[in-house]
Formats: sequence, C-alpha cells, structure tokens
Amino acid sequence: MSRRVSARYEQFGVDLWALKPPPGTPPHESCHLHAELSPAGYDRVFKRLKRAAGRRADAITDLGAGLGRAVAHAVATRAFKSAVGVEVLAARVQAAERALADLALDRRGASVELQSFCAPSYAVRTPCALAVDIAFDRATLAALAPRLDESSELLAFVSFRPALRWREAGLRCFETVESGRVRSTGEERFTYYVYKRRRTVREL
Ligand SMILES: C[S@@+](CC[C@H](N)C(=O)[O-])C[C@H]1O[C@@H](n2cnc3c(N)ncnc32)[C@H](O)[C@@H]1O
Repeated sequence: MSRRVSARYEQFGVDLWALKPPPGTPPHESCHLHAELSPAGYDRVFKRLKRAAGRRADAITDLGAGLGRAVAHAVATRAFKSAVGVEVLAARVQAAERALADLALDRRGASVELQSFCAPSYAVRTPCALAVDIAFDRATLAALAPRLDESSELLAFVSFRPALRWREAGLRCFETVESGRVRSTGEERFTYYVYKRRRTVREL
C-alpha cells in the first residue's frame, strides 16, 4: 500500500512546484517550500512518535499537510487509525483531497482541512502531531507554539526544529526525548526531534 500511495503522489509532484500562494496569503516563507519525507522516513518518525505518546495514541495531525502525503501514509500503513492534515493553501488542500479520495483513504479516516494552525481559534485535537517545519519562519513557530502547549489532547509531536528554536518561539510544555535523521523525497537528509509533553511545566 505504501508504494501505491507514493506512486499516486508522484503525479502531483510536477504540479506542486507551480502551486503558488494566492494573492493575499500572509508572506511567511513557510508557504514557498514543500518538503516531504521518504516512505521509510515517515515509518521511522511515526514509530518514534507513537513510542513517545504511548500505546493508545492512534490519531495524528499533520501541521502543514501540503498534498496530504504524510496523512495518506499514516492511514495507508495503519500506523495511525486516523490522520487529519491542516493546510493553509487551498490549491494544496484540493490536490490532497483528490489523492485521498482516489486512494479511498478518505473513507478510512484520512482528511486535510483548509485552515491555518496559526489562528488563535485553532486547536490540535489528536494525541500525536507532525510538523515538517523546516522552512517555518519565526512568526509561524511563535504562533504555533501556544497551539501545541494549550492543546488538551496533544501528548507528543515530531518537528525538524531543535529545542532552542522552540524555546525562542515560546514553547513551554514539551521536551525533546529523541532525535534522528531521515531522508526527504528529494534525497536530502533532515534531523527530526521528538517532543513529549512534560509532567510539570518549566523552561525547555
Ligand atoms: C513541508 S510542507 C508539508 C509536507 C507535509 N507535511 C508532508 O509530509 O507531506 C509544509 C506545508 O505547511 C504549510 N503551512 C505553512 N504555514 C501554515 C499555516 N500557518 N497553517 C497551515 N499550513 C501551513 C505550507 O503551505 C506547506 O504546504
């Protein structure tokens, strides 16, 4: 299933680079870069994430879901029972919805919503989250940090930014428990960090 998911998404790879933020999109650099992990990369970070969040953690949010590849992989491989993506660019949400419907993964609990995770009204509603946040700028991280801290359900998340960056962004309730290296679909190698909710709140 994982190979089929990847193959299905390949055809969106060409369109992807032509997808530009529509006029009026906030000019944070996050929108201009798209990076996805290799299937083995997703497998690895999902395994580490579940280990940090605990056995009952069976739902994940992809913060900045792009074309929904991580969401699709999470459900197709049964790493998670359900996966929801949050994506700010409508063209990417539409492409993700088409691919998820084509693979019938929308009927198995995979979805991508058009929404900004920076919005004060946004709340993470799953025990696990993924943020392929390599290009998120300071303002984006600073807006996301309270959404993570204040979630009543989030237990652990994977990020590609180290604890120092998150401390600068104001994150208070999570600590790094693990890190490692994974490959992107573009054969780059990225360092990921697993963050787990602290029992007591103190500085990172
Ligand atoms: C690296 S790409 C996502 C890759 C995706 N997580 C995957 O693994 O397939 C990062 C995405 O975050 C989105 N993004 C940036 N800022 C956002 C925000 N405030 N709310 C929702 N999505 C955002 C970008 O538009 C981009 O599509």
